[in-house]
Amino acid sequence: MIKKAVLPVAGFGTRFLPASKSIPKEMLPIIDKPLVQYAVEEAINIGVDEIIFIISPEKYSIRKHFEKNEIFESRLKNSDKTEMISKLNPEIFSEIKFHYIDQEEQNGLGHAILQAEKVIGDNSFAVLLPDDLFFSEESCLDQLLNSYKKTNSSVIAVNKVNKEDIHKYGVIKPGDIKNNLIQIEDIVEKPSYENAPSDIAVCGRYIFKPSIFKFLHLTNFDNSGEIQLTDAIKVLLKEEKVHARIYEGEKYDCGSKKGFVHATIALALRDESISKDIKEIIKEII
Ligand code: UTP
Repeated sequence: MIKKAVLPVAGFGTRFLPASKSIPKEMLPIIDKPLVQYAVEEAINIGVDEIIFIISPEKYSIRKHFEKNEIFESRLKNSDKTEMISKLNPEIFSEIKFHYIDQEEQNGLGHAILQAEKVIGDNSFAVLLPDDLFFSEESCLDQLLNSYKKTNSSVIAVNKVNKEDIHKYGVIKPGDIKNNLIQIEDIVEKPSYENAPSDIAVCGRYIFKPSIFKFLHLTNFDNSGEIQLTDAIKVLLKEEKVHARIYEGEKYDCGSKKGFVHATIALALRDESISKDIKEIIKEII
């Protein structure tokens, strides 16, 4: 039902300098898998078969990561490490069409999504921001897909955050709430503590109807020279219902150092091959 997903990966990643000087932030690994691969797998697992990266030329390593590597594969074969081939060239990528569209200037998330308009055409589509990492039995995108099927509207993943952190996020003003589904009345980008309409913040997963493009085109650059996705949603809300789905599960903001380390520890404790040792190490450190 949702066959196309947009992954904006063209941002500067300034919070991860100096690492992000030569390595795209989205290629930083949590244990042994780059952040961007977790997001691509999440999309494929709901049935997506076209992945559209909004990228910049210096982030070519993302492209390389999703291409088949025959030379490395034959090296693994020759050195009797054939069991690693499925990690190198995962089978699930073989049927996927990957698109790479350059965002020539980093003019914000809204501007990045706008670059995908031609490839998306008249289809509803998913957007995944790879620096938000989610862990739950039913994936975050799957939860959104179920809500999309129920409402036939654009749906945004949200979660509650501490009011002290509210200024870092897009924040919704909730209308009707039924179970996990909220009808959005309004949305504001990075409000101050005093002006925040709620403590319900937007996370990095969305399903949009193609009408979002009309509103992205109508959105002006803000004071910092960016086209904000939040501003486009704000206007979309005047014409269409948009819902927020309260995400159930773990979420790590890997665009920040704290979230990145948190995710690394949480995943290490889940990884059977190292969890026992890591627990010991943590005990020793404490
Ligand atoms: P962020 O604002 O979290 O990423 O954007 P950033 O700008 O790269 O990081 P900092 O704030 O400088 O540390 C969320 C996602 O949107 C992409 C980013 O690559 C990231 O995946 N993005 C952002 C774009 O593709 N283009 C943009 O112009 C801005």
